[in-house]
Amino acid sequence: MRRRTALKVFGIGIGGAFVLGGGGLGAYYFAAKEDTAGEIAFDTALFIPSLAESESGASGARVFTLGIQPGETRFKDGQATRTWGVNGTYLGPTIRARRGERVEFAVHNGLDQATSLHWHGMHLPAAMDGGPHQTVPNGGTWKPRWTIDQPAATLWYHPHVHGSTADHMYRGLTGLFIVDDEDAEALKLPSEYGVDDVPMIVQDRAFDGDNQFEERVPLAGSLGVIGDEILVNGTIGPYFDVTTRLVRLRLLNGSNARLYNFGFSDDRSFSLVATDGGLLAKPWETDRLYLSPGERAEIVVAFKPGERVELRSYPSEYGGASGRLEGFDDRLDICQFRAAGTLSGDAKLPAALGAAPDLAGGAVAAERSFVLASDQINGRSMAMDRIDFGVREGTVEVWEVTNDNGYLHNFHVHDVRFQVLTVDGKPPEPPLRGWKDTVLLAQGKRYRLAMRFSDHTDPNMPYMYHCHLLQHEDDGMMGQFVVLGEGEQVGVVPRTHDHS
Ligand code: C2O
Ligand code: CU
Ligand code: CU
Repeated sequence: MRRRTALKVFGIGIGGAFVLGGGGLGAYYFAAKEDTAGEIAFDTALFIPSLAESESGASGARVFTLGIQPGETRFKDGQATRTWGVNGTYLGPTIRARRGERVEFAVHNGLDQATSLHWHGMHLPAAMDGGPHQTVPNGGTWKPRWTIDQPAATLWYHPHVHGSTADHMYRGLTGLFIVDDEDAEALKLPSEYGVDDVPMIVQDRAFDGDNQFEERVPLAGSLGVIGDEILVNGTIGPYFDVTTRLVRLRLLNGSNARLYNFGFSDDRSFSLVATDGGLLAKPWETDRLYLSPGERAEIVVAFKPGERVELRSYPSEYGGASGRLEGFDDRLDICQFRAAGTLSGDAKLPAALGAAPDLAGGAVAAERSFVLASDQINGRSMAMDRIDFGVREGTVEVWEVTNDNGYLHNFHVHDVRFQVLTVDGKPPEPPLRGWKDTVLLAQGKRYRLAMRFSDHTDPNMPYMYHCHLLQHEDDGMMGQFVVLGEGEQVGVVPRTHDHS
């Protein structure tokens, strides 16, 4: 719950002058800069998504059953909000599986329209990816299966229906997918789920007068929906009871368009230990961390007995011309941490974590360049039946990606983890030195990304690459590639997507 209605109205007034003559009330409203620092009541315990249950299947695989369903969720006083969820009414359970395990899913679509579930960050066959070519019709069940074959990391799942991804995600279809392995477990990082290893799906939402989600887009807006209320795991104004000296937070920017610049209310430093694709080589200490939509970070925070501190998003430097309208100047309180009088556990982090990316300096089979501008990549809009190119299995490629207009974009590649080799010719900052699958593209800078394509050849079924600001993706800022085996040529996308 929010305590400061009066101030907010004042904010609307200021912003309004800026956009007068423009569109509806929604635009008017969002012109205001939001500042909720010190203004959130933090009166609800942080909801922790349950761990998905599984059964063992005939072949020894772990079988998960996921039901996508409409429902109603009570986020605040008054009316419930119409939402979508997985095995519940909003968001979905956290899936957890180990490297080497075979997993199978029964994804049942109980909505009144087709949707899909994509496993973001997962290395798997294109036909199992849950992208735009694996939509599940309403009433249908989709049964992907694969063997988990990548290091421990915080991945996630969400719909990926071309043209409707933003809408389906905004309604609530999102969950975490944690991959475990022995190397990560041997490190003794905080790892008790929901106790000192805490999932945090951070999302912004706008509510209308009847407590329903509004997909309001700022006037002159270019990013898509920007909400003024922050939810973590579906909880508005959450607090978390800290019982250990160190707490690992698995942060996911699960918003459609909002950029977060995470920090704490007392500017304390914290340690980044993992990025999208897994552990860093060593912890990186910082007091701020950007996450654009789709990116994840695992951070470890140290607490003192009895203290209280808030996780917050600070104003950002990436705003550009329309920045104020699109939340870049906002300062938003996100979650309060309340430390108990005595805290247990270690206070020290391991000095060495995972294996650093190792793709610099090796053989490069191909270089490609990607320019993102005007809802297109290299001047082309996504077409479901066009495969943009094929890559060779077993090779490393370097992709140079540039954001060539005044708006925020990022870049996500399916199936692989990539290494950021350089940003404008210089070695990347520490948070970009680990494995990534999604990277924020600062205006005008050249990002050189190295990635190795291994396994899972299929000349006909493409993987996606795209901007993860969902409105841009839906509007066509996306392309498709296939992974080719020896002697194979780029094929033709199968026409039917019926998996019922
Ligand atoms: Cu998070 Cu193409 O997806
Ligand atoms: Cu993805
Ligand atoms: Cu974009």
